[in-house]
Amino acid sequence: MYKGYSDNFGVILFFMNKYRDEQYIKEHNVDFTVPSHVGIIMDGNGRWAKKRLLPRNAGHREGVNRLRGIIKASSKLGIDSVTTYAFSTENWKRSEDEVSGLMNLAVEYFGKLMDNLVKEHVKVIHCGEKDRIPEKVLKLLDEAQERTRDNDGLIFNFAFNYGSRREIVHAVKAIAEDVKQGALSVDDITEQTISDRLYTKGQADPDLIIRTSGEVRLSNFMMYQAAYSEIMVVPDLWPDFSDERYIETLREFSKRDRRFGGVKA
Ligand code: FPP
Repeated sequence: MYKGYSDNFGVILFFMNKYRDEQYIKEHNVDFTVPSHVGIIMDGNGRWAKKRLLPRNAGHREGVNRLRGIIKASSKLGIDSVTTYAFSTENWKRSEDEVSGLMNLAVEYFGKLMDNLVKEHVKVIHCGEKDRIPEKVLKLLDEAQERTRDNDGLIFNFAFNYGSRREIVHAVKAIAEDVKQGALSVDDITEQTISDRLYTKGQADPDLIIRTSGEVRLSNFMMYQAAYSEIMVVPDLWPDFSDERYIETLREFSKRDRRFGGVKA
């Protein structure tokens, strides 16, 4: 058990993610409390490829390698949930070649790494729409969720064909349906009623949202959940965002003074 400190509640006790890797933590001098939930907007694959005169899909391939590394690092750090933005509901506007490249990379990623995810106690959750996703990708996403359903390590929310506005529309429709069926009364609708109908239901809201490549916007990512998230924009292009830079970013985050709309104690 770990003794944590909170401005609002004095000393609180909570269980650390039991799979955190003490050796990794020591080697990387992680002497601060890591966030419970990190959202990541993985941006800059295209620019990474352009700088090397490579096609955009070569940047995405390198981006997948980094995704793999960051998921592994997050597990070792004892983070509870990581949400990574891999494909947005708007990304269908990209060229057919780029879209099919990303779909194939998803097949390759989950195909190759499924056994590792299972072994590493990672629980995969697909956040996003199923429509338009090719059958072969959907099948693997379903299999990944099914095979990791009972895992109790890192929750890996894979935001793929994801859009926050769309997610909120689904939540509103689900609530309207419950009201229509008489299962819920309008007076009982709270913020929690909405949270419970998002893809991240049951998880803490992201403490931190990291966006790589220097762009400062949310791009339709976790807009409901991000109400009090700290946002950190780093200049690194996603394929260059090493474990070390990730840990440095988490260290910077740990120094932030979070007040959740209250005043400084
Ligand atoms: C934005 O950078 C990145 C994306 C739209 C895709 C991100 C995807 C990955 C990192 C890999 C996804 C993983 C799987 C398994 C499919 P950009 O391409 O817009 O870069 P740019 O702004 O430099 O052009």
